[in-house]
Amino acid sequence: MTANPTILQELPADLDRDRLPKHVAVIMDGNGRWAKKQGLPRIIGHRRGVDTLKDILRCCKDWGIQALTAYAFSTENWGRPLEEVDFLMTLFERVLRQELREMMAEDVKIRFVGNLDALPRSLQTEIERSMEQTYHNQGIHFTVATNYGGRQEIVQACRSIAAKVQQGLLQPDEIDEALFQHHLYTAGNCDPDLLIRTSGEMRISNFLLWQVAYAELYVTNTLWPDFDRREFHCALSAYQQRDRRFGKV
Ligand code: IPE
Ligand code: IPE
Ligand code: MG
Repeated sequence: MTANPTILQELPADLDRDRLPKHVAVIMDGNGRWAKKQGLPRIIGHRRGVDTLKDILRCCKDWGIQALTAYAFSTENWGRPLEEVDFLMTLFERVLRQELREMMAEDVKIRFVGNLDALPRSLQTEIERSMEQTYHNQGIHFTVATNYGGRQEIVQACRSIAAKVQQGLLQPDEIDEALFQHHLYTAGNCDPDLLIRTSGEMRISNFLLWQVAYAELYVTNTLWPDFDRREFHCALSAYQQRDRRFGKV
């Protein structure tokens, strides 16, 4: 089933516009299983996953959600077969090139987080181009975690803070949560309010370890290529039923 952007164009009436998450993060899992179920190669699942992501991004914009962060490739995903990794890198590059015009038209500000230096040079070029061109867009903030690992992000933040201390630019007692946050790849983004994981796995898989401290978690058995606006509606309904206490009573 192709993602159908004509359904649920408007925010569903049962959702409270004032209590929507400002920032939704998604672990887009299950592309491989989706393909396997249809007897297709895993890469077809990744291709379908891109269609899903495009519609969920558009949906966030249509429904008034200000920021979406998607986990596209983890630091651990390099351990997959070379052909799959190559396919994904080429797919990212192609999609980015094809979608830039559309992102400009839809006022999307795209940002990539992760260890981008280790990505293929040609992909880095597309990443830089898309971030520069969409820099002033305000319609929605779209962050793509690519070669991203939460632990790696924390380690690199420690390193850059330590270097500043060593250079005498910073005193150890000046290191607080706000300063630390400022050294993460996601500096400047607000933390996700809602973290969705598709395909039923109840784990974080090294995603946004620092940032999800108080995110509401939502796991669905639906595989990412089948995740549509109806599913997203369910996730938002569940979110609106949560009591976010932040440690208080
Ligand atoms: C998620 O789908 C996409 C990436 C990690 C790039 P998977 O490829 O992990 O799909 P499953 O989990 O094997 O079904
Ligand atoms: C998490 O999915 C990474 C992305 C969605 C990019 P994985 O499929 O890599 O996670 P595990 O292996 O099930 O933990
Ligand atoms: Mg997976």
